[in-house]
Amino acid sequence: MLVEAKNLPHHVGIIMDGNGRWAQLRGSARVLGHREGSKAVRRTVRAARRLGLRALTLYAFSEQNWARPGDEVDALMELLREFLTTERDEILDNGIRLSAIGNLGRLPHLVRAVLDPLRRESEDNDQMTLTLALSYGGREEIATAARELARQVAAGKIRPDDVTEKALGDLMPSLAVGDPDLVIRTGGERRISNFLLYGLAYAELHFADVLWPDFGAEQLHDAIASYQQRERRFGHVGKGVQPKTEGASVTRIAI
Ligand code: FPP
Repeated sequence: MLVEAKNLPHHVGIIMDGNGRWAQLRGSARVLGHREGSKAVRRTVRAARRLGLRALTLYAFSEQNWARPGDEVDALMELLREFLTTERDEILDNGIRLSAIGNLGRLPHLVRAVLDPLRRESEDNDQMTLTLALSYGGREEIATAARELARQVAAGKIRPDDVTEKALGDLMPSLAVGDPDLVIRTGGERRISNFLLYGLAYAELHFADVLWPDFGAEQLHDAIASYQQRERRFGHVGKGVQPKTEGASVTRIAI
């Protein structure tokens, strides 16, 4: 699959779904699917950085995932800790800024103890921002921003008319790297599951039927190649179907 060097999405979000089914298909415990899933995270981060994406946001744990059985939650927290520990050097050596969004206060100490130092150590890196959505919910993020603006109105710092789309978006950590241009969901389901809701307004969506543990560079490139064939209109009138130009040249990255 060929990806154009120009016209890369700036911010890609991924809903990593299908770990449990991957394991069940092999007669294994769901936790084993999550373990394979964390290998797919490594491959995907590497591929995204190599491609030159500026921002990658991974939906690693939703606010609703706390309702899963305790041993599955514990295993996911342990895998997160392991990922942050083993990938630390590669993240720092490759200029990646590690960021996290969500209700981080709910995360156990074992995760915070590796997450927080890595966020600090990598904060000046500027090649790519890798954001982990942890204990994250899109509705919760919107409500938190709305609450903050309501407080500012109540305190007389701003007027109700100052509650604009931009003012709300500016308070959303998920949009610090810009709106998502492309959101990929693996696992075959076609839904958004409370991911990046506010920023999704004009995102392109790509649904991959592959289960998350089977995702890697090839599938990321397929998703980006599909994005590059689309015309983004942002509610405006499009260019319509363009006649094919003989010999038109595009720089493509062979992978
Ligand atoms: C959804 O699959 C996946 C999750 C809830 C967790 C995602 C976690 C990882 C990919 C591994 C750890 C993360 C990092 C960043 C190292 P599911 O369990 O809902 O799958 P199913 O739909 O097949 O049951």
